[in-house]
Amino acid sequence: MMHRSSPVSSAAASAPARPFATPELIGDHPLVQQLRALVTRVARTDATVLIEGESGTGKEVAARMIHAASVRSEQPFIAVNCGAIPAELLESEMFGHERGSFTGAVGSRAGMFQLAHRGTIFLDEIGEMSAALQVKLLRVLQEQEVRPVGSDRTLKVDVRVVAATNKDLEREVAAGRFREDLYYRLNVVPVSMPPLRERRSDIPVLVEHFLTKLVARHGREAMHLTEEAMVHLWEYAWPGNVRQLENAVERLVILAEGPAIRSDDLPASMRNFISRSAIPDLHVSEDGVDLNRVVEDFENGLIGKAMTRTRGNKQAAARLLGLNRTTLVAKLRRREDMGGMALACA
Ligand SMILES: Nc1ncnc2c1ncn2[C@@H]1O[C@H](COP(=O)(O)OP(=O)(O)OP(=O)(O)O)[C@@H](O)[C@H]1O
Ligand SMILES: [Mg+2]
Repeated sequence: MMHRSSPVSSAAASAPARPFATPELIGDHPLVQQLRALVTRVARTDATVLIEGESGTGKEVAARMIHAASVRSEQPFIAVNCGAIPAELLESEMFGHERGSFTGAVGSRAGMFQLAHRGTIFLDEIGEMSAALQVKLLRVLQEQEVRPVGSDRTLKVDVRVVAATNKDLEREVAAGRFREDLYYRLNVVPVSMPPLRERRSDIPVLVEHFLTKLVARHGREAMHLTEEAMVHLWEYAWPGNVRQLENAVERLVILAEGPAIRSDDLPASMRNFISRSAIPDLHVSEDGVDLNRVVEDFENGLIGKAMTRTRGNKQAAARLLGLNRTTLVAKLRRREDMGGMALACA
């Protein structure tokens, strides 16, 4: 009889944290609607799924949705983080081991594949798997059986595989870091998670969703974002995607006076972010451009806006622009000398 006694498993591999919470992908953006439809469709099958997307885009949410909507939903969902388990332990984590098969293997132990029998295994950060283990995984997928480390017997397993990666696996294959045959075996149904910056129209609903949830969790009165604060969140680049947005909302719920969350409550990195869309689309024509002139025009524009916004208060305008007052004054004087710019409010 196999039993689990490894000290290394708990942090890296986990059963559902909240078994009763139905995972859901919030959002109305067409990309998210398509995603939900795709997830629902593949959930009805046993097809292997490869989920690609940047960090925090909801890859694990999608994997849990696929499991929850499948005929396997009453069976285990086992997540293995291939990037968090040391390479030399991952094989025994996945396939189990026999007693005495390596130093420290005091008893025999079932691997994640055996634990996921009849259910779903979620192979997270699959791009981190060593070349040696990639070969073994490919064999498991083809034969539907695992061989525990140190054992001469194989065990049949009935497991649905969902893998995820935040790397571009196709590029990893081209670079020789990921086996092409395994890539094709996994990539039967590709699911691509859009980054948050490509579905900005979902930011308000996501904020609303997280506000409701987190206000309750932290025992605060209902809160809302002012329009101005929302504009900053809308413009921001969100390199950490939905997870970063959720963390930002949590910080606001804890720290803002409320009930209205204003721009001043936002971290400086979000308040002072200049989105790419604020930078005009410039072209270099056949005749070339005068770079200094274009940069100067752009600078003049921003200085003018800052001076207008602060009603000509140079100290405040300098702060908005991240300059010290002396630098701003020097720039303003240069403009006046050139007779170029009328800063009406100065
Ligand atoms: N569309 C969404 N709707 C609601 N919550 C979401 C959505 N996308 C992500 N989340 C939430 O964002 C957090 C991160 O999601 P998840 O762990 O699935 O991301 P991930 O893609 O696996 O990230 P990583 O690559 O860093 O592991 C979770 O708290 C999840 O609930
Ligand atoms: Mg994840």
